[in-house]
Amino acid sequence: MPRFDNQTVLVTGGTGGQGTSHVRAFHAEGANVVIGGLDAERGAALADELGPRAHFVHLDVTEESSWAAAVPAAERAFGSLDVLVNNAGVQNPPAPIEHTDRATWSRILDVNLTGTFLGIRAAIPALRRAGGGSIVNIASIMAMGGTAHYAPYVAGKWAVRGLTRTAALELGRDRIRVNTIHPGVIATPFIHEPAAGATAAIADFYSPEPFAVPRLGEPTDVTRLLLFLTSSEASFITGSEYVVDGGLLLGPALPAEAA
Ligand SMILES: NC(=O)c1ccc[n+]([C@@H]2O[C@H](COP(=O)([O-])OP(=O)(O)OC[C@H]3O[C@@H](n4cnc5c(N)ncnc54)[C@H](O)[C@@H]3O)[C@@H](O)[C@H]2O)c1
Repeated sequence: MPRFDNQTVLVTGGTGGQGTSHVRAFHAEGANVVIGGLDAERGAALADELGPRAHFVHLDVTEESSWAAAVPAAERAFGSLDVLVNNAGVQNPPAPIEHTDRATWSRILDVNLTGTFLGIRAAIPALRRAGGGSIVNIASIMAMGGTAHYAPYVAGKWAVRGLTRTAALELGRDRIRVNTIHPGVIATPFIHEPAAGATAAIADFYSPEPFAVPRLGEPTDVTRLLLFLTSSEASFITGSEYVVDGGLLLGPALPAEAA
């Protein structure tokens, strides 16, 4: 039997990049999928393509009113909400801290941190009504160290780790598990298109060649882990963090000629 039969999954930022990969995979495994996102055209097209077990909702994760509409819409469409994936995220235009303006700082934290907080808060009553469920917050390997010129992004993603652990403690007795995934460098518009206000894309200056698994990650690399973490197979896992980065955090592998 598919792992997510009779379950409803809401994915934020579901209209592109990793989010779309997650939506497609949950749907293929039997879930009802709620595609939360800003791009109504792409969201509606994806929902149409997937059919009656898919529904698009306009969801700006920074807007409380957006959440207040999206969660009931999921319950109305499919009867319950069982899984929330806080996937929406934005990167800052690279800049040292001394040249990072307050507006950029606030904008990035608003989406990556406050958006995740608002999502957890909005989903809790629905997950309780469903008898329990699972939340996964998508952070980043940048939440495992420092990265020059990415202070707003790094700080927000670090904070998501603390939020995840706290939520896991608060919600465990309600049978709601909360975990974090830290993707490495994944081939999506996120690395192929410059951040708002930037001119270069991450892919312009990043090469995976020195690392243990010398390739860019694919969205499906993250999706497979996400499906495991949100499934009943992971019922004893909460407050945990999983890195999916092809060994990037290990540092560069020695070239063969050095052996
Ligand atoms: N691609 C990578 O290398 C990488 C690495 C580590 C972490 N991440 C994280 O993975 C997640 C998915 O990123 P991706 O690689 O698919 O990038 P992406 O840029 O393709 O997708 C991000 C999605 O978030 C949506 N979004 C942005 N602001 C939003 C808002 N206010 N409300 C709702 N949706 C909003 C965008 O519309 C987009 O669909 C993000 O949280 C990102 O920080 C990505």
